[in-house]
Amino acid sequence: MEPNQALFAEARSDWNLERLYAELAEAKHQVAPHTKPGLTPTEKERLRGLLCGFSPAEIAKQQFKQPRTVEVALCQTLYRYVETLTGRSHNALESWRDVASWLAAAGYQASKTEINWSQAPDVSVFYGRQEELGKLQHWIRGESLNQAKTQICRLIALLGPGGIGKTTLSVRLAEQIQSQFDCLIWQSLRHEPPLETVLIDWLQQLGASPATLPTPLHDKISALTQYLRDHSCLIVLDNLDTILRRGDFVGHYRAGYENYGELLRRLGEEQHQSCLLLTSREPPKEVVMLAGPNRPVRSIELEGLGETAREILKEEKLSGENQWGQLIRIYRGNPLVLKIVATTIRDIFNGNVIDFFKQRLTLITSDVSYLIEQQFERLSDSEKEVLYQLAKEQEPLGISKLQQLLSPEILQALGSLVRRSLIEKSAAGFTLRPVVMEYVLYRLKRDT
Ligand SMILES: Nc1ncnc2c1ncn2[C@@H]1O[C@H](COP(=O)(O)OP(=O)(O)OP(=O)(O)O)[C@@H](O)[C@H]1O
Ligand SMILES: [Mg+2]
Repeated sequence: MEPNQALFAEARSDWNLERLYAELAEAKHQVAPHTKPGLTPTEKERLRGLLCGFSPAEIAKQQFKQPRTVEVALCQTLYRYVETLTGRSHNALESWRDVASWLAAAGYQASKTEINWSQAPDVSVFYGRQEELGKLQHWIRGESLNQAKTQICRLIALLGPGGIGKTTLSVRLAEQIQSQFDCLIWQSLRHEPPLETVLIDWLQQLGASPATLPTPLHDKISALTQYLRDHSCLIVLDNLDTILRRGDFVGHYRAGYENYGELLRRLGEEQHQSCLLLTSREPPKEVVMLAGPNRPVRSIELEGLGETAREILKEEKLSGENQWGQLIRIYRGNPLVLKIVATTIRDIFNGNVIDFFKQRLTLITSDVSYLIEQQFERLSDSEKEVLYQLAKEQEPLGISKLQQLLSPEILQALGSLVRRSLIEKSAAGFTLRPVVMEYVLYRLKRDT
């Protein structure tokens, strides 16, 4: 990770930073072919400082360095890369201010339509996920991993249980690829806005006058798809699960929100040059129907952070490091759950993971169970029955055994529970995730 990604982070809103980092890295390779590829975190930080209008002396102060050290380093590194990138001769740069003005003249300033983007969460602390980021970038660019051109993805669903990092990844991805788009839209569905309101807002911000907006919703979607054909636009629809029905099989909409299904279906099926990226704990039914590995609609199921989650425990200043692996395994590397558990360990056990395990505490802290409770409340009766049965058995159960114990119709419930990430399927059969197991046992005891 960079020493301090938040330092001069404002540069991100005015400049195409990811493109600049990549192209300056190529210039660096020309100027200094024997150095490690890519800009160093310190070089990136100084570049952002200059782009925000800070002088080398002011940057030095923020970096706790001597002004002279920073000035000399800039002369040997960034200034030379900028000259090469903008086609100037060696040592043509006379003032640090030339950096921003030359890069602006070369078209590196962001000039795109952004809608609600300020509402997206800050993701300056971000660990791992390089594989997922690479895969998603390939899908959006329409490349397979061997660089062959395939279909550009028009609709992508980022799926996974609560707290696994879907929203965080969507924002990070958008930051990395924003320079490929003319327009960026962020829309959270957490407060359940009706589609009509959302479309009127987007279309007006995209330049339509209120008087010319068509009345039928279908025509508003057509106006949007026309825009998405003429411009390349990245739309992030966050927390789609809020408008899906509780107590039903996976992927159906709540009353009054069914028209979001039409939006997804049309953006998935019709030709355009934009991408709708949605995050959801469960897939909407259009994604289930339209997605496929060679299709323009795809989905990705996020797993935990694995060993990378150690960074979170480090950040929370926990001790007992040789038990961290176990903690990460129990909580499946879920960053939110680990953060919640780490807080408990810090408060009750002085941050010592060994003491936490010694106490044989139930694996559930009240906050984690709240997280799972939210998912549990959404389930249909037959899904709950499956969970109770798996909790009672403790062992993985195969489909035929479950059908014997419950009813032959439980297949749909099983599929639905796997998609909700509450149960895991292995060669041995279906079983509950450990944290879910604890929660279901607690419910069983409470309710009987
Ligand atoms: N790659 C990551 N590196 C560091 N922290 C992360 C990462 N991914 C997620 N987190 C942290 O975990 C928490 C939950 O992440 P996020 O909100 O993205 O989850 P989510 O999958 O969108 O959950 P929900 O379904 O509840 O919306 C946040 O506090 C976030 O900062
Ligand atoms: Mg989210």
